[in-house]
Amino acid sequence: MVSSARRFEGRTVLITGGLGGIGLACAKRFAAEGASLALIDFRQDRHSEATEACRAAGAAHVVVLSCDVSDEGQVDAACGAVRERLGGHDIVVNTAGLMLFKPLEDFSSDEWRRLLGVNLLGPVHFTREWLRHAAPGGAMVNIASVHASMTTPMVAPYAAAKAALLSLTRSAAIEGAAKGLRANAVVPGAIDTPMLWSNPNLQSGAEVISAEDIGTPDDVAGAVLFLACDEARFVTGASLEVSGGRLARL
Ligand SMILES: NC(=O)c1ccc[n+]([C@@H]2O[C@H](COP(=O)([O-])OP(=O)(O)OC[C@H]3O[C@@H](n4cnc5c(N)ncnc54)[C@H](O)[C@@H]3O)[C@@H](O)[C@H]2O)c1
Repeated sequence: MVSSARRFEGRTVLITGGLGGIGLACAKRFAAEGASLALIDFRQDRHSEATEACRAAGAAHVVVLSCDVSDEGQVDAACGAVRERLGGHDIVVNTAGLMLFKPLEDFSSDEWRRLLGVNLLGPVHFTREWLRHAAPGGAMVNIASVHASMTTPMVAPYAAAKAALLSLTRSAAIEGAAKGLRANAVVPGAIDTPMLWSNPNLQSGAEVISAEDIGTPDDVAGAVLFLACDEARFVTGASLEVSGGRLARL
């Protein structure tokens, strides 16, 4: 993807799940437009690989931190470290996510707590930090899913968390407005990352997705950068579907 714009010069962007397929694609696009980056992820590996990729793409500064987004204390510590090292995090992109596949009747309460912890409370923790510390002009972009409105068997906690994430996005938009902050969501369909292919329904052939219904991480990143940039100054509380029109089809 070629971009001639430098919409994020002098801005710092914090990306949760920054070492994942969609998170790293967003990071490289922000880097190419002049941003400094804080990548937050559970994974302990790929730190230097991601740092190099972002530097090569043009990032001014890159910080990679290990953090479990579902743990409030770890999030507070990570955000404090980012403020200390990069001076702030006015743009936050919540991409960290986790899917488990089981019949609804078999999901334990612990599994519900784990899935809601990563997919919903993670964004809650970062929203709180962002509302407290971001400067006017800041933006948040939450990565939801088409499962927020339509779903399949075996993913009930994930679908519930993504539906609640859209509601959280609206609340953050309303309460952030007085501080000059905007919050929006991107609603991806099937995107070609390891998370997509970990779906046992796809692996077994029980569910088939046609090639034209599969987008790339860069397709999502393009939407994220638009919602995060100042051109979207009048867009807040919105959800942008990036699914190749999958939900629009009869
Ligand atoms: N791939 C798709 O088809 C698709 C479709 C719709 C929505 N999404 C959403 O997009 C987002 C990114 O997914 P992806 O496809 O890039 O998947 P991915 O598995 O490549 O990336 C997810 C990242 O989140 C990190 N993560 C997981 N749990 C974490 C935790 N507790 N704390 C910190 N980091 C944690 C993982 O280590 C990983 O790097 C997710 O929120 C996902 O729900 C993906």
